[in-house]
Amino acid sequence: MNSLVIVGTGWGDEGKGKITDYLSQKYDVCVRFQGGNNAGHTIKFNNNKYALNLIPSGIFNEKISNVMSNGMVINLKALVNEINSLKSKGFDCKNLYISNRAHILFPYHMELDEVFENLKEDEKVGTTKKGIGPCYTDKSMRTGIRVGDLLDKECFHKKLSRNLSYSNKILSLFGGKTFDFNEIYNEYISLIETIRPHVVDTSLFLNKALEENKKVLFEGAQGIMLCLDHGTYPYVTSSSPSASSVSLNCGIPPQSIQKVLGITKSYATRVGEGAFPTEINSDLSDRIREVAHEYGTTTGRARRIGWLDAVILNHGRRISGTTDLAITLLDVLSGIEKLKICVAYSLDGREIDYIPSTIEEFNRCKPIYIEVDGWKEDISNAKSFDKLPENTKAYIRKIEELTKIKVSLISVGPDREQTIEIKESNLF
Ligand code: GDP
Ligand code: IMO
Ligand code: MG
Repeated sequence: MNSLVIVGTGWGDEGKGKITDYLSQKYDVCVRFQGGNNAGHTIKFNNNKYALNLIPSGIFNEKISNVMSNGMVINLKALVNEINSLKSKGFDCKNLYISNRAHILFPYHMELDEVFENLKEDEKVGTTKKGIGPCYTDKSMRTGIRVGDLLDKECFHKKLSRNLSYSNKILSLFGGKTFDFNEIYNEYISLIETIRPHVVDTSLFLNKALEENKKVLFEGAQGIMLCLDHGTYPYVTSSSPSASSVSLNCGIPPQSIQKVLGITKSYATRVGEGAFPTEINSDLSDRIREVAHEYGTTTGRARRIGWLDAVILNHGRRISGTTDLAITLLDVLSGIEKLKICVAYSLDGREIDYIPSTIEEFNRCKPIYIEVDGWKEDISNAKSFDKLPENTKAYIRKIEELTKIKVSLISVGPDREQTIEIKESNLF
């Protein structure tokens, strides 16, 4: 087993960073394959806590190569800050490789994000305002600027002047702030020097690694429900976190993907706007939010809380080929008497077991639940599946039964050590 893709099964923040860091200990390469610094991944080990936005979560393991692929949009200033912050904590980042085909996210993309959100009035997506949508728009419009373009001053000058003049025109049309060419040009010409030694053709790099039978971990940001094609459009991000996008976003053959580990919380959360059928608005959601510190790593926004949704897990299995599940934040459910799992939706009087294509229909979906017994015990120190309370085991088995996907990892706390591998799992 040489390649494994890590995919969020919900609306992001499932604990992908924690699991990627954990698995990286036994892999040779870790690749972030989409998104930008809209992502926020929290990792804890040895009593330290780290937050990553752009750099792959394998960076804390010295032996592993970390790759930022062509599918990413990179805020260069944020990346340089992230590298410097890691260096100041003793992680030298020498093993970081950045795609020359990844797109650069500029300050005007962030302003465009703000302007377009405001235009949407009462239909705002609730983006992270990091400029992700406008940067991917430039990519599709074929006006974007890629990492490789910055390595050549003349080429960068020409492309920035074209892209900025076009963006400034749009910004002035909609009352946004416009940007000065020289300021951006000079700043970015200096920023590129920090990352110049790390820039490579990551497709060539990854093909070579796969040919040499290196073990490669692909780390997705966000989650399937935020997928541009298969999520709750238009309340989604502007890339695809699905395993099917790995090949295109990394420049490797589709046959290279062997296993897909879907990361799911033991309940559900969402940040930003958009339908959320199993959302809970009661003392219970407040309690879960406080116990699990459910506030966004990137924006600090309070996360919305809901029950686990098996319809969504099955959607992920179909879209992304989930072969294994990692259940995270299982410790958070201790002390809740009865737990609900959504097994289907009622839509206009019909029962359905899939995600409807329109947001209008998804808004009308009412969850159909089964109820199972909870457990009282603190499980945050459990070291094996056998040591878990019977009701916890039954909850896990129920998830396997409803999704037909085997659970291979269980996380019972934020620390690297608080991870239980199911013996017969084959994730390494
Ligand atoms: P990501 O975006 O998918 O990497 O997830 P985030 O890091 O944004 O959010 C997950 C949060 O849950 C972080 O604060 C983690 O430290 C924390 N976390 C991860 N796994 C567990 C777990 O098993 N139990 C608890 N209590 N917290 C966890
Ligand atoms: P990680 O990798 C949770 C959400 C935003 C918004 C929508 C579009 O930490 O799981 P965008 O800025 O991407 O245009 O916003 O997507 N969103 C996330 N929610 N976790 C994330 O990343 C997210 N990245 C984007 O809140 O609803
Ligand atoms: Mg996150």
